[in-house]
Formats: sequence, structure tokens, C-alpha cells
Amino acid sequence: MAAKITKIWSDVVEVTFSNEEAPKINTILTTEDESSTLIVKKIINENIVYAIIIDSNDAMQINENIINTKKSFMVPVGNKTKNHIFDVKGKALNETKTKFDYVEMNETIIENNDYKFKPELMETGIKVIDFFVPILKGSKIGIFGGAGVGKTVLMKEIIFNLSKTQERTSSLFIGAGERSREGVELYNDLKESNLMQNSIMFISKMNESAGSRMHIVPVGITAAEYLRDQNKENVLLFIDNIFRFLQANNEVSASLDKKPSFGGYQATLNTDISQVENRLFTNENGAITSFQTVFLPMDDLSDPSAIAVFNHLNGSLVLSREVTAKNIYPACDPLESTSAIVDPKIIGKRHYDAILSAKKVLQRYKELEDVLLILGIDELDQESKQTVKKALQLQNFFSQYFHTTEHFTHHKGVYVPLEKTIESIERILSGEFIDVNPAKFLYISTVDDIKIGD
Ligand SMILES: Nc1ncnc2c1ncn2[C@@H]1O[C@H](COP(=O)(O)OP(=O)(O)OP(=O)(O)O)[C@@H](O)[C@H]1O
Ligand SMILES: [Mg+2]
Repeated sequence: MAAKITKIWSDVVEVTFSNEEAPKINTILTTEDESSTLIVKKIINENIVYAIIIDSNDAMQINENIINTKKSFMVPVGNKTKNHIFDVKGKALNETKTKFDYVEMNETIIENNDYKFKPELMETGIKVIDFFVPILKGSKIGIFGGAGVGKTVLMKEIIFNLSKTQERTSSLFIGAGERSREGVELYNDLKESNLMQNSIMFISKMNESAGSRMHIVPVGITAAEYLRDQNKENVLLFIDNIFRFLQANNEVSASLDKKPSFGGYQATLNTDISQVENRLFTNENGAITSFQTVFLPMDDLSDPSAIAVFNHLNGSLVLSREVTAKNIYPACDPLESTSAIVDPKIIGKRHYDAILSAKKVLQRYKELEDVLLILGIDELDQESKQTVKKALQLQNFFSQYFHTTEHFTHHKGVYVPLEKTIESIERILSGEFIDVNPAKFLYISTVDDIKIGD
């Protein structure tokens, strides 16, 4: 046998090759009975490599024989993969007899030729997104938030709404390091709504090895690139959670004895994320539009991992704990959220003006909040009182019932066309409802639901 395990640490294994050349980075190695899988991550010399564990039977031993597969992860690709859910090794997790076609992880990488395409708006039917963070086909959108503020729920609603409305488009979901229950639930929900037939899922759960959680992302992106460049399709790519990908990279980097950089993150934080983000682009074959949830440790938007991701995005939605405390879902903070396409030439002057006016009212309210806490609303002048009232009406107006939460909110989900949202906001800002209690704006679809005199 040409290769043997020569050292074992907790999740790193040293493999020594005697009669054959040592394999390149990202080659998959297995034990003879294939019960353990490793991936090469560091070349020590022409005979010795370090490999990290993807999965193992815990019984690996020094001197155990190792098989060099001479390939990286094999990724199932193309039309036949639709309707299926896979793990990092490309194994279908649902029952199937389908024989899939495979390509090697990262084999599909091509250069971005900066193809120029006509901006095309993608409506989600979610008021706060369409209004403040309008999305163009081919954009990269981040959903930022601390633990339990609603990132996954919001992403799920986007998946459902866009899968229903976007034609000739496939959805690809990458579950990186999150709860296993969520992956299964999403699969079942998509299946029930007949949306799985155009969807593909790749999942590595939080209890899997760092090697698995880190590679599920390039594995899934390989499948997305294949759909774009070989099938010539538009792809909606969803990643929950890109922070877990960076965290897994960090764990692997620590295992391989690399020194951490600022904030305890790996020195390669920015290259780790660039290697992923730079693959998500549009060319003449098709568009990859991506939505990525970004977990914020300690709710901190200035965490190095959040900044590293943010730099690649065209738009960001920030979910805030303060908004959840008011029972407003989706708990978006419009003043922190941004979109590069808030430009009158793209979204039109009417929408643009409405965004500016709404932000101004919300900003002014934020400034007045401290005064309000101390002095109460009666101490404010007439104009400030009206601003406060409009701001509260707006905040509540952006709450919305979702289709995907009907089972626990017990309210029917709504899809609100952007046109209706803009009109409602203009009417709130005009003062048409200045005498209406802001509480009446919670979970309405449009202001047509407000009955003056109630
Ligand atoms: N749109 C919504 N409507 C009603 N409740 C919601 C909504 N979004 C979130 N919630 C509530 O908040 C909980 C947490 O939401 P979610 O799992 O999406 O958070 P998360 O940000 O993904 O959390 P984590 O960081 O743990 O992944 C939900 O289980 C639900 O109770
Ligand atoms: Mg989540």
C-alpha cells in the first residue's frame, strides 16, 4: 500500500505516501473500508500531507492504509439533481434510484467577464425588502442578524415567493452549519408546495465536522455554476448561514496550526469569503442571484466576519432585536439596511423619493426617541408629534404575515406588490392617517385595510 496514516490529532491526520506522489490540496482520501473520509489541506513535502476529517468511524489508527481517490468532492449536477437533497459527499439524503451526473468540486469555476445586462427588478412581495432593499436579478443580498431574530424565516419566505414568481429559474439552497430540523422542514415544505421540482438542496448540519461545514458551500456553488453555464439557467442561490462557513474555515485553520488574526479570526478571512463571493455572478448564460444569511455574534454589525461579507454585497437587510421586541416581523431595521440600486435611474423617481422621505421620518423619530422617553410626547411641538406618529405608523406597516409561518401565526400570509407598498407609504407620509392609532397599522397588507373612524 502506498499511503499510510502516520500521525493523528483530533481532527487532522498526517498521511505519508511512499511509492506515489502526494496528492494535491482538496483531494479526497479514504480508509480502505471507506468508513472514514479525509480531505487534503496542507502539503508538507512531496511525501507528506495533512488532511482534515470529513467524517470518520473514530477508529482510525496509525499505520492504517489510506486510499487516494485522486479526486476532490464529487458534486451531483444538472437537471437530474432537481427535487433532491444532498450531503457534502454528494449522497442523496432522500430516497431515490436516480443515477446522477457528477463533476469535481470547483471544476466549474470560470472567470467573471463582467457581462453587462439590463437591470431587472425582482419583486419578493415582502414590503420592507421591496421598498428599502430593492433586488436586481444577479444581486448578492445579505440578511444580517443576531441569534433568533428571524433570518431563516425571512429567507424561507423569499425562497417561496421567488420560486413561485420567477420563471425558468432554479433554486439552490445551501445549508451550512445550521439546525438539521430546519433543512428537513424546508425540504418537506417545498415538496408539499410542488416547489421542490425546481429546487436542489445541499446540507451540512451544525453537528457535522468543520471540514464538512466548510466545503458544503463550494460544493453547492459548483452545482449552481453548472446550472448557469451548462444548463443556461437563472439560479436563485440561498446560503444559510455564510457565517458558519467562515467559522468552519476558522476551525480548520486553527487545527492546521495557523495563527489567528484580529478578532480571533483566521488571517485568511477575506480570501476565504472572496473565493466564494467572486463566483456568484451573471454572464451571458444566466444569472446567479444570491441571498445569504449572516449571523452576528453578540448582535454586532462591526464583527470582522460581518464586514468581510458585507463588502461583497449589493444589498443588506439588517434584522434587529429591538424590532422583534415590538413584535414586528420581519424585524428589519430600515435605517441600517442598504441597497446599491437605490438610484432614481433604476427604480424610478417616485420610489426613490418615497424611500428618502420615509427614511427621513424614521431618522427624525430615532433622534427624538430619547426626548420622548424622558419628557413624553406632549412636550413635543406639533410638527415633531406628527413625525413621531408617522414613524410609528410606518414601523408597524412594515410588519407582514408570511405564507411560511401560517402554521404558527395562524394568519394567512400575504404577498404585497411593490406598487401597492409605495402607494401606502406615500399616503402614510402625506398625513392622510394622522388621526389613526399606529397600532392599527400592525400586520395590514396595504393602507386600504385601514378604516378611518374605526
Ligand atoms: N416572520 C416571522 N413571523 C413570526 N415569527 C417570526 C418571524 N420570524 C421569526 N419569528 C420568530 O423568531 C424565531 C426565530 O426565527 P429564525 O429561526 O428565523 O431566527 P434566526 O435569525 O435564523 O436564528 P439563528 O441565528 O438561531 O439561526 C422563530 O422561531 C419565530 O418564533
Ligand atoms: Mg437561522
